[in-house]
Order: sequence, then structure tokens, then C-alpha cells
Amino acid sequence: MAANTTSVLFVCLGNICRSPSAEAVFKKKAADMGLILEIDSAGTAGYHKGVAPDKRSQAVGMERGYSFKGLKCRKVVVQDFEKFDYILGMDNQNIENLLKDCPEEFQHKVSLLLSFGASEEQEVPDPYYGGKGGFEYVLDLIEQGADGFIEHLKSTA
Ligand code: 4NP
Repeated sequence: MAANTTSVLFVCLGNICRSPSAEAVFKKKAADMGLILEIDSAGTAGYHKGVAPDKRSQAVGMERGYSFKGLKCRKVVVQDFEKFDYILGMDNQNIENLLKDCPEEFQHKVSLLLSFGASEEQEVPDPYYGGKGGFEYVLDLIEQGADGFIEHLKSTA
């Protein structure tokens, strides 16, 4: 990846529902807008390492035209804090977990996905133990977050 390419890591707990959905949404929105970004996702926990995104996330995402092809769960590693320009968590627990491991010099990179102004909510709630409606709601929030974050990137370009 070119040294000047902006890179973004989306983070949730399991890296099977919210953050891979954010990765899929962002990849499509960035491609549609001709933005070249490096986009990845990871989890603060490693329960599902190597596993594809949750079938329910994939189903609701694919209905909206997002691709989950090739995505596999991984845990956040300490090198991520240096490598990525933005590290965007889904909820406050994710942020707390990230900041525990993040070296001081990179802590400014860590923020909530929904902190960029396009949503009334601040957190994307964990849908894992709920029904389909929760997965739809997660995607609604991620789409708002993506729009807000892309506006932020354009304003700082
Ligand atoms: P995610 O959802 O953090 O959005 O990927 C979860 C996935 C799995 C678990 C919790 C949350 N789990 O406990 O296995």
C-alpha cells in the first residue's frame, strides 16, 4: 500500500458482526466514490479467529449490496496502532479495550465510528444475541457512520 494512502481499521468485540460489516460498507462506499483507502477490521477478542462474518450480518449486508467475500476474523495486534491512521471502534467498551493496549503516541487515532457527526447515536450496539432487526439497525448506523467519516476525510484531504 502506498505510504500516503489513508488507512482505517474498524474494531468491535468479536470481528464477526459489526466491524466486518463496517469494512464491507466502507469498501463499497469508498469504491463508489473513487476514494483509495486501505480498509480492514479486527476484534478486541480472539474467540472466532479465522472465521467468516456471521451469516446474519452477511445476509442483511448482501441484501443492501455489500460484499463479505474473503473477510476473516482476526484479533487486533499491537502493530495495528502504528499501521492504521484511524482505528474506529463500535462502542465504548471497544474503545476502552483498545486504549488499554494502545501506546500513548497512537491513542489519538482511536475513536468511535459514530463520532463523525452523521448519526444521533454514539455507539453501534452488539447485535450478536438479538434478532434480524438488530442486524438491520447495526447496518443503518454503520451506513450513517460511513457517510460522516467520508465527509470528515474529504474535509481534511
Ligand atoms: P461483534 O459481535 O463484536 O459485532 O462481532 C459479537 C460477536 C461474537 C460475540 C460477541 C459479540 N461473542 O460473544 O462470541
